[in-house]
Amino acid sequence: MTKSNYDYMETLTKTKTELCIDVKGVSVRFKTPKGVYTAIQNIDLQIFKGEIISIIGHSGCGKSTLMSTISGMVKPTEGEVIVNNKKVTAPGPDRGIVFQNYSLLPWMTVYQNIYEAVDSVLSSLSREEKRAVVDKAIQMVNLTTHKDKHPQQLSGGMKQRVAIARAFAINPSVLLLDEPFGALDALTKGSMHVELLKLWNLDNRNKTIIMVTHDIEEAIFLSDRIVVMNDGPAATIREIVDVPLPRPRDKREIVNLPEYRITRDHLISLLMDKFSIMDHGVEYVEKQEAEEM
Ligand SMILES: Nc1ncnc2c1ncn2[C@@H]1O[C@H](COP(=O)(O)OP(=O)(O)O)[C@@H](O)[C@H]1O
Ligand SMILES: [Mg+2]
Repeated sequence: MTKSNYDYMETLTKTKTELCIDVKGVSVRFKTPKGVYTAIQNIDLQIFKGEIISIIGHSGCGKSTLMSTISGMVKPTEGEVIVNNKKVTAPGPDRGIVFQNYSLLPWMTVYQNIYEAVDSVLSSLSREEKRAVVDKAIQMVNLTTHKDKHPQQLSGGMKQRVAIARAFAINPSVLLLDEPFGALDALTKGSMHVELLKLWNLDNRNKTIIMVTHDIEEAIFLSDRIVVMNDGPAATIREIVDVPLPRPRDKREIVNLPEYRITRDHLISLLMDKFSIMDHGVEYVEKQEAEEM
């Protein structure tokens, strides 16, 4: 790492002590035809302003449910969520969301989908300013040539990028990303990581970002802490893993640091425990990966 990188790191590194999100004893139960299903049970999680947090865990363990309680889309059956000192009762413009399922309006073009969000959240801007914000967001996700297309004319990865551009455009203080890069190819995913960190750096790292992912490398590269969840029903937090890597992080450099390997091995072992019960094929692949390191 060069000297200037160190300087940059020092300017931007600060201790994060201001509580942004407080998940307090949250349980969520759903009524189903087969009876009541407890998705998550008594979750306590404190997230500080400016942190990037990943949530990782088996499919169906309750990651999206937990995110939805923070966004205000799902009301906790027990407990409460406080965001910026206010109890969450509904979605709000302070929390930008990228869902797993894109959630674009099918009758609107790429441009209109993003403009709609910018128009409602950044209502004090002039029309020209709003247009500039939309254009910049579309450019960021590399969709300028597709901006007049409707969602059904786009691939899954393109739709996902529209959803990302929309959330970034409104520049909320809290970004909730539910498997935001899951549908993207490796190269696009890599450039989205860079854009996400740029957005975070632009805001002096004051933005709080929570991201659900299945990708251990992605979680380590981006996060300050990684929340590993147990399987459901009644899922709880298994462990919160710190990522002790300095920023800015260079993907090619960090993989050679012992801290990276230790963190990665620890995450694999936390997740592999479950795989060994659930699926021997996956366990084998994960083990091989671990050995190749
Ligand atoms: N609205 C709902 N009604 C009934 N069950 C639900 C509902 N939403 C989620 N679940 C159930 O809760 C569990 C957790 O779901 P989810 O949070 O989507 O998991 P993940 O995002 O970790 O894959 C799953 O078993 C799912 O079927
Ligand atoms: Mg989910």
